[in-house]
Amino acid sequence: MIGKTIISLVSVLFIAHIIHLLGIFSTNLEYQEKYSDCEYLQTQGFDSIGPEDSVFYNKDILITMQANLYKAFEGMESIETVQKGGFYAVYGISTGKLEAKKIQIKNYPDNIFLIPHGIYLRDSNYLSVINHSFYTGGERVETFRILLDEKGQVALEYLHYTKMDDKFNGITNDLVFLTSERFLISDCMVFPAPLSGPKDQPAWQKVLTFVTQILKIKTTYVWDCKYVQGGLATCGKLRNSAGIMINGIAFDGNETIAVADTADRQIKLFRLNNSNKEIELIQNISVDQLPDNITYDPVNKQFISAGLNSAFEYLTLSPKIEQIQKNPTKKSIVDMQAKVHTIKLNPITKQFESQLLLSSSKAVAGISGALIDESQKYLFLTSFPDKSLVVCTRRSQ
Ligand SMILES: *[C@@H]1O[C@H](CO)[C@@H](O)[C@H](O)[C@H]1NC(C)=O
Ligand SMILES: *[C@@H]1O[C@H](CO)[C@@H](O)[C@H](O)[C@H]1NC(C)=O
Ligand SMILES: *[C@@H]1O[C@H](CO)[C@@H](O)[C@H](O)[C@H]1NC(C)=O
Ligand SMILES: *[C@@H]1O[C@H](CO)[C@@H](O)[C@H](O)[C@H]1NC(C)=O
Ligand SMILES: *[C@@H]1O[C@H](CO)[C@@H](O)[C@H](O)[C@H]1NC(C)=O
Repeated sequence: MIGKTIISLVSVLFIAHIIHLLGIFSTNLEYQEKYSDCEYLQTQGFDSIGPEDSVFYNKDILITMQANLYKAFEGMESIETVQKGGFYAVYGISTGKLEAKKIQIKNYPDNIFLIPHGIYLRDSNYLSVINHSFYTGGERVETFRILLDEKGQVALEYLHYTKMDDKFNGITNDLVFLTSERFLISDCMVFPAPLSGPKDQPAWQKVLTFVTQILKIKTTYVWDCKYVQGGLATCGKLRNSAGIMINGIAFDGNETIAVADTADRQIKLFRLNNSNKEIELIQNISVDQLPDNITYDPVNKQFISAGLNSAFEYLTLSPKIEQIQKNPTKKSIVDMQAKVHTIKLNPITKQFESQLLLSSSKAVAGISGALIDESQKYLFLTSFPDKSLVVCTRRSQ
């Protein structure tokens, strides 16, 4: 009798824990006081699905990658058939006449899969790109030179790569370069994807991944790596970086590095000691979102972290995917909460603090990141499954 009661009590507690973790009944507050009127950027004549990551090239131009990462990583399609990726640029940011155009890539072989993911602008002129090329080349970080043609349009010239160890196949996520040789890269899953692609991941690995996340076991890290041109990168775990699902990384260009642990609803702040080059954990901040990517906004000297409100919304995304990706209108038509927070140093307490910047259920489906342009007029929202990049406009005060 007592045994039974205990078992049912434990089950009820466990179910309550899962409901809480997944955020099944979490409330969806709307907050668009600073930026609002979020709309898709109209793109003509090229694919723009899955713009998970973007970087500002200058005050006028934003560079975005795209690939149907959601379908590839949920195993909805095989690596052969899933739509491959590329890059596009948004021009006219400072003049307010936004226009998206495909970026031409020079020297890119067409028999090789291009499935870009995290991108990083290094030394103003180089684009570092995570490339999940699976059996056509494994997990790599590629370097391109950014060129501007006579019309002021961006082109990419492929330069070289470093290969990531097989244990990272398909699971690195985000990267920042501290110097031209030293980079930090996150991995977000316990098991690497098979070389043939995530669709072939054994079911037991998927179940175990889910279990480690539910039980909050920390099996993912930030890796501190050395770029070896044309060879295998050498990487070691960054001390105190263990997390449940380590994801976005951002660097302020000076001494602060912010890292998101999506499943733990936490942001870790690290300090780079510029004399001995060591990196040390200085603060953990809990945030009211599942932080995915983090970007740095140099104008306001703050980090911007973006993510979904609940894991439940992520888990219920797949039946809506066609509706999302084939949406003919300018606005998102499914309900999916996008939350954006700023993380800023309070000069008095010397602690970083988070503040809500945007919360909206109709801004973008599956937010992954947010960036504010230099003029502060626009808030761009990136996403892993949606049809295009989203742009929100600053409200006049
Ligand atoms: C996230 O943003 C940073 C810029 O801070 C960028 O370098 C990175 O590649 C992004 N990653 C993803 C996966 O969105
Ligand atoms: C992706 O990987 C392939 C094969 O390893 C490589 O040849 C190609 O240049 C890479 N593409 C990009 C965009 O980095
Ligand atoms: C780097 O950060 C330190 C400490 O916050 C500050 O004193 C210094 O001015 C910063 N340097 C730059 C170039 O921003
Ligand atoms: C940075 O490194 C230097 C040289 O090793 C050391 O003296 C200093 O205490 C370190 N600074 C911090 C804030 O840890
Ligand atoms: C951050 O949290 C981790 C555990 O998640 C803990 O070990 C560490 O001491 C915390 N660090 C700081 C600076 O609060």
